Amino acid sequence: MSKANLLSLLEEREGQYVSGEEISRALNVSRTAVWKQVRKLEADGYRIEAVPRLGYRLTAKPSRLTLQELLPKLRTTSFGRRLTLLDVIDSTQNELRKLAEQGAAEGTLVIAEQQTSGRGRMGRSWVSPFGKGIWMSLLLRPPVPLPLTPQLTLLAAVALSRAISQQLPELDIGIKWPNDLLVGGKKISGILLESAAEDERLNYVVVGLGISANLEAGDYPEELLDKAVSLKMASGETVNRSALIASVLEQFEQLYKLYLEQGFAPIRTLWEARSVTLGKRTELYTPQGKVVGVPLGLDEMGGLRVELEDGSLRTVYSAEVGASG
Ligand code: BTN
Repeated sequence: MSKANLLSLLEEREGQYVSGEEISRALNVSRTAVWKQVRKLEADGYRIEAVPRLGYRLTAKPSRLTLQELLPKLRTTSFGRRLTLLDVIDSTQNELRKLAEQGAAEGTLVIAEQQTSGRGRMGRSWVSPFGKGIWMSLLLRPPVPLPLTPQLTLLAAVALSRAISQQLPELDIGIKWPNDLLVGGKKISGILLESAAEDERLNYVVVGLGISANLEAGDYPEELLDKAVSLKMASGETVNRSALIASVLEQFEQLYKLYLEQGFAPIRTLWEARSVTLGKRTELYTPQGKVVGVPLGLDEMGGLRVELEDGSLRTVYSAEVGASG
């Protein structure tokens, strides 16, 4: 028996109790096997009431993104106007990359309800349970030289933080260099840029955006609980995911246009104003080793200018930001 069989049985009789005995007979499995599948459905966001002698009753389904709900909310010209909405995929990055290779236009978006191999930065995995977050990838074809692509990471962080502030103004969101968004020191979203280039020429950029919208503590592995938090856990409110997706796309498109017209300078100012990395003693783990100092701001490329303990200045382009304070 799969959980899909059990689900269709419960859905047929939605709101009514179906006894464990009837389910095990209909699906030809043991009562223990039924119970195990019930637990799996609950992990996917279904609410199933279990009452001794009465049986199981489906009381709530996970929230689902639909095009009917999302499309009327879009206020963009090209971002998200070509859109693929998937149930389960390994990673939206892979799916969008395939579309990019087939010539998909800038602004093409892939969203998934769940990722089975969600990717994070530095080869990490990204927790992406069904129906709980915003797991999406956006295609850009920016006419900029390859070495400047990290600027788009910083731009994406500003866009995300503005969109989340718009939806949940009570949250105090800070950007940790280069692009983690934090609430109360814990990470609420992540950005992963993957570029494709030919002969040093940038062909396209796949911008992966992961926003932990409605995850519960139980959705995270134990070891992440002191580092990560969802918007719902931080605000106490269930996030309307389609409204947030629409805001992210709107903010992103606006900033991207500004960037193409005026360059990195205005993005740099906006990023610095929202950063929680600047002005505090910080440990940076660069590929060349640990750097300790006080980050002062960004340079014109998007690197982090750090004042070292001996008073000298150093710019860091790639690093994991460690402890600060
Ligand atoms: C990070 O480590 O902070 C980056 C996380 C990026 C996660 C997003 S979710 C949508 C897209 N698909 C992936 O596999 N990763 C990105």
